[in-house]
Amino acid sequence: TQSKDLDHHFRGQAIVTFLDQPIDAPLKNRYDVGRRDIMRIIQTTDFQEMSRTAALLILNLLLNNPQAVIGLATGHTPKGLYREWVLARYSLGIAMNGLHFCHLDEYLGLGSDHPESMAAILRQQLIQPLGITPDRIHYMPGTAEDPEQACREYEALIAQLGGLDLQILGIGQNGHIAFNEPGTPFDQHAHVTTLSPSTRKANASAFSNKETPAQAMTLGPATIMGSRRILLMASGSSKATAIQNMLEGPLDENCPATLLRFHPNATLVLDREAAAKLSPATLQPAEYNHPIPLSVFAKTTPLLDSPQRILVCAPHPDDASISCGGTLARLKQEGHELLFISMTTGHR
Ligand code: F6R
Repeated sequence: TQSKDLDHHFRGQAIVTFLDQPIDAPLKNRYDVGRRDIMRIIQTTDFQEMSRTAALLILNLLLNNPQAVIGLATGHTPKGLYREWVLARYSLGIAMNGLHFCHLDEYLGLGSDHPESMAAILRQQLIQPLGITPDRIHYMPGTAEDPEQACREYEALIAQLGGLDLQILGIGQNGHIAFNEPGTPFDQHAHVTTLSPSTRKANASAFSNKETPAQAMTLGPATIMGSRRILLMASGSSKATAIQNMLEGPLDENCPATLLRFHPNATLVLDREAAAKLSPATLQPAEYNHPIPLSVFAKTTPLLDSPQRILVCAPHPDDASISCGGTLARLKQEGHELLFISMTTGHR
């Protein structure tokens, strides 16, 4: 029945192509607060829709890059995404065995076989259900004798794999990403960090003794910025202030997530509660905030045989992007030249 549910949601449904759309494509969604801030924001109603939207983004990436190297977060936020992803493996039959997975962070002192480690959670929620073989999941070694050296080696491993194609992220209530707590220098790579009281409190329920370890290993802001794509999800009112600071506050190491505004290919999937404190201006380019539809099944065949110059006529720019934005984006990606003409009475 799970597979039936998924078919119901996915079959013939729109697939979001934002993740693979170069930022300088004509249909970009530019989030601009007067500096070089660029970010795509997709608003969804609730946790489930956020999870499903993120899953669609990722499946689209996997269809185009079955050898992708993907950085995985743990925590409450990505749980629904991982569930959808696992269901999709069975109902859509997308190959997952060419992927590599890297771990975003791990508690210091917990080995990957410790049941409360982030590694164990990832294994249970995603890695095992996807049937990923151990050589394709790379955990951060929380029990390494020299954790700082282990961090450097982990960075080297990511580089050896060709770098991250996608980093999946949540966000902490204090604006942390991975375990980069407020104050972490933006140029820092993987390192050992001391968790803030609010992070320890937020994660305590995951531990049988209700105590979060004091320290962790984490990829750094610089490592995360090195990923070719970023997908950050946030759900619930407890994240609304962090999202507001991230998008509307000053660029500041005291809110590590603000750095992501400068990533050239970052997508944010928020549910309504997490987006509740954003000003209308932040969400303003509404026509580009809608997912662009494109069939998941047709993505691999080029739309046209040879390069073309295409004239697109629409009564209003909205009509072009809403009705066939995915197709237009894809035509552009496939090297065709597009010219847009909008016909309007000029009354708005
Ligand atoms: C987890 C991680 C953290 C979480 C963040 C939000 O791997 O890196 O940054 O993403 O603490 O946690 P949740 O999703 O539990 O609210």
